[in-house]
Amino acid sequence: MEVIVAKNIGFCFGVKRAVDAVYEQAEKDGNIYTYGAITHNEEVVKDLEKKGVSVIGSAKELESIQEGTVIIRAHGVAQSFYEQIGRQGLKYIDMTCPFVKRIHDIVEKESAAGKQIVIIGNAGHPEIEGIVGWCKTPAIVIESLDEAKEFDYTGEKELCVVSQTTYNYNKFQDIVEIFKQKGYNVIIENTICNATEVRQTEAREIAAKVDVMIVIGGNHSSNTRKLYEICMQECENTYFIQTLDDLNLDLSESVKLVGITAGASTPNNIIEEVQNYVRINF
Ligand code: F3S
Repeated sequence: MEVIVAKNIGFCFGVKRAVDAVYEQAEKDGNIYTYGAITHNEEVVKDLEKKGVSVIGSAKELESIQEGTVIIRAHGVAQSFYEQIGRQGLKYIDMTCPFVKRIHDIVEKESAAGKQIVIIGNAGHPEIEGIVGWCKTPAIVIESLDEAKEFDYTGEKELCVVSQTTYNYNKFQDIVEIFKQKGYNVIIENTICNATEVRQTEAREIAAKVDVMIVIGGNHSSNTRKLYEICMQECENTYFIQTLDDLNLDLSESVKLVGITAGASTPNNIIEEVQNYVRINF
């Protein structure tokens, strides 16, 4: 049996940069907070907790902190968050991914210029909450093709459409097409991160040729979930696991090829454990 492991796998550039910064800071100083989990991977979060890094869950929780350093993760935060940190006199290290920062800059500028901002993505996702928080006027968030079809804009403003960095590229194109068919006056900013696109395309190609596909990533990681959906479309024997412990494979003789991919917040050691296990045991 053969195993194909995707090349575009594990921490993306933005998450790696943020995780490295937390480890580095934890070595120097014990009083470290991250605003939300630094990655969606529970294993990494647990390891950082042992090193004295606490996770703050909300702006309300932040209010009770008197001193220390807050690390802003790759997802970014709303503008109001920086104001709150400033008011409380806390130090901060900004690890917002530059690709997310670019979206903040676009929506800030375009909303100030009178455009209606439309964000394609998951409204409850912290990245989207952060982006909304940089708009000078209320933004509209559209999550799905159905919502795009139902969307009926009657305002006068030109629309400026951006997307969540981890949004599915094909779905984004379909939504843009719907807006064009509706005759809206739109400026499209494709802000999907290239890391996501490359990862998704490769996962689809691998899933299309294997008998079994394994997707590794955190339960709360939306980009891993999307990888899972994509792989499921191509290979019905697709497994979504967080760590090797979740893998309950019972491979029949007919399985000749197994594929492995992983979400952007999955550490390399977990990917290696899974691939070694599959290679040795089957
Ligand atoms: Fe940044 Fe792309 Fe990762 S936006 S956080 S490099 S998926």
